[in-house]
Amino acid sequence: MKVGIIVGSHRSESQSSKVAKFVNSQIKKLRPDATIFIFDLRNNPLPLWDESKWKSEGNLTKLWAPISLELSDCDSFIIISPEWSGMVPAGLKNFFLYCDNELAHKPATIISVSSSMGGSYPIAELRMSSYKNTHICYIPEHVILQKIDGILNDDVFDEKNKDDYYVKNRILYCLNLLMLYSEAFKGIRKSDVIDLKKYPYGM
Ligand SMILES: Cc1cc2nc3c(=O)[nH]c(=O)nc-3n(C[C@H](O)[C@H](O)[C@H](O)COP(=O)(O)O)c2cc1C
Repeated sequence: MKVGIIVGSHRSESQSSKVAKFVNSQIKKLRPDATIFIFDLRNNPLPLWDESKWKSEGNLTKLWAPISLELSDCDSFIIISPEWSGMVPAGLKNFFLYCDNELAHKPATIISVSSSMGGSYPIAELRMSSYKNTHICYIPEHVILQKIDGILNDDVFDEKNKDDYYVKNRILYCLNLLMLYSEAFKGIRKSDVIDLKKYPYGM
């Protein structure tokens, strides 16, 4: 089992990275056998997509190659996205442009992050517009993390810390479900029904 964690914030010290750290620690507890690949978009490691990505010797193709290998190896993904101006950060949308079939027919869950009471928009945006050509399969469960500065600052599950305790358990529930989907989807990808050569792009 290999799990990919994509961190969608471009900020060098982001709350989304903090969330990834927590998620990473919980997956290790749930599935000690799992390998985890964290791809953090801090400081924009991916330039804006251009057509050199379509050329086998293009600069972007070379840059993407090792990332592509890691993603292709993953069985499922956690997409962590902050809400920026009511949107998903441009770098995260750019990441999806780079993807060919690395995420195809693999389950994923979304965790959105807000310093205030936001976080709904990234969920709606990702569910609406990031799956068509990537063929990523978002599971019905997602998590919205609000007032993020005050929660998830450690790995301790303390009932007295009500909001923190609730979201930590909610994340755990979501990750447990994602692990089940990960196993189940392996069979789907092994089937001979999927034909990404014939239908590389969703309708
Ligand atoms: C450019 C920008 C726009 C933002 N717009 C929103 C917003 O529309 N709604 C919201 O709840 N938070 C907004 N925030 C605050 C983020 O929720 C906050 O930075 C939070 O820590 C998550 O982002 P991070 O992972 O980059 O730290 C914005 C932050 C930035 C940097």
